[in-house]
Amino acid sequence: MIRPRRNRKSPAVRALVRETTLSASDFIYPLFVHDKDVDEAIESMPGCTRWSLAGLVREAGEAHALGIPAVVIFPAIADALKTSGAEECYNNSGLVPRTIKALKAAHPTLCVITDVALDPYNADGHDGLVRADAKGELEIVNDETVEVLCLQALCHARAGADIVSPSDMMDGRVEAIRTTLDSEGHPDVSILAYTAKYASAFYGPFRGALESAPKAGDKKTYQMDPANSREAIRETLLDEDEGADMIMVKPAGPYLDIIAQVRETTTLPVAAYQVSGEYLMIKAASQDGWLDEKAVVLESLTGIKRAGADIILTYFAKDAAKWL
Ligand code: PBG
Repeated sequence: MIRPRRNRKSPAVRALVRETTLSASDFIYPLFVHDKDVDEAIESMPGCTRWSLAGLVREAGEAHALGIPAVVIFPAIADALKTSGAEECYNNSGLVPRTIKALKAAHPTLCVITDVALDPYNADGHDGLVRADAKGELEIVNDETVEVLCLQALCHARAGADIVSPSDMMDGRVEAIRTTLDSEGHPDVSILAYTAKYASAFYGPFRGALESAPKAGDKKTYQMDPANSREAIRETLLDEDEGADMIMVKPAGPYLDIIAQVRETTTLPVAAYQVSGEYLMIKAASQDGWLDEKAVVLESLTGIKRAGADIILTYFAKDAAKWL
């Protein structure tokens, strides 16, 4: 008789037939930084911290020692520095360049990734520049934004970033950033493109962490409609063509079908971002003991990897690396 259970009969046999394994080397650890001397708990993301520069360097070092190869930095910018032109995003002595330099000095083998988008710096809270159109309605302008994103990416590259990661969803930005980096002497800086980034309600806690929510309107004219999957294929083909080194799907858990389709579409490495809302759901449910946090975290990450992700961005990276 054919008995599938024979392949599940012991831990040893299960280990032999296991198709997906998680490892600390799969993770990118997102870290929040602010320009203050104190480490501050983030109310909207229990267990996460807005780090001081020194705190962030320490945390990144602990994560790296656990086998995590990379961190991605998200800055909380003081309100006084936010403008409608988001100029602070390419200030060479700004918070992000200083963070990159401190991280590379303390941990030379750590891969430092930066987020390229205007929302932390933009008085409007949008990822792109906001202008009134002829009718007086607000629009997020594409091509002018891309010019600023190129300045931002270049600023990060000059400070020593290994990978820049455009999360803004403007058209044509991967090619523009690639061209800028190449012509300015940074051909080795990689681009991890947020390729299929959906207009998701699961980003809410993150916007709380950075106080970066849009002041007016939503992000639906640039981030993708959660109802669409063919569009993710289109974006993947475009970003690959424009010179992306890695492709990202975001969020991860509710978009496993997209991860699987993108995996089939490209030979590039595929990353998936388990976003703040996914983190918060597991955190909140485990705080009261309703869910077993460790088991659920590892299962959710295994599912993301099984769907086809090579790389996972997760706020659980450090915990998961310890548990593994
Ligand atoms: C903004 C950005 C967002 C996230 C990463 N980069 C928020 C947004 O697009 O509104 C979300 C990450 C998360 O929710 O964990 N460019």
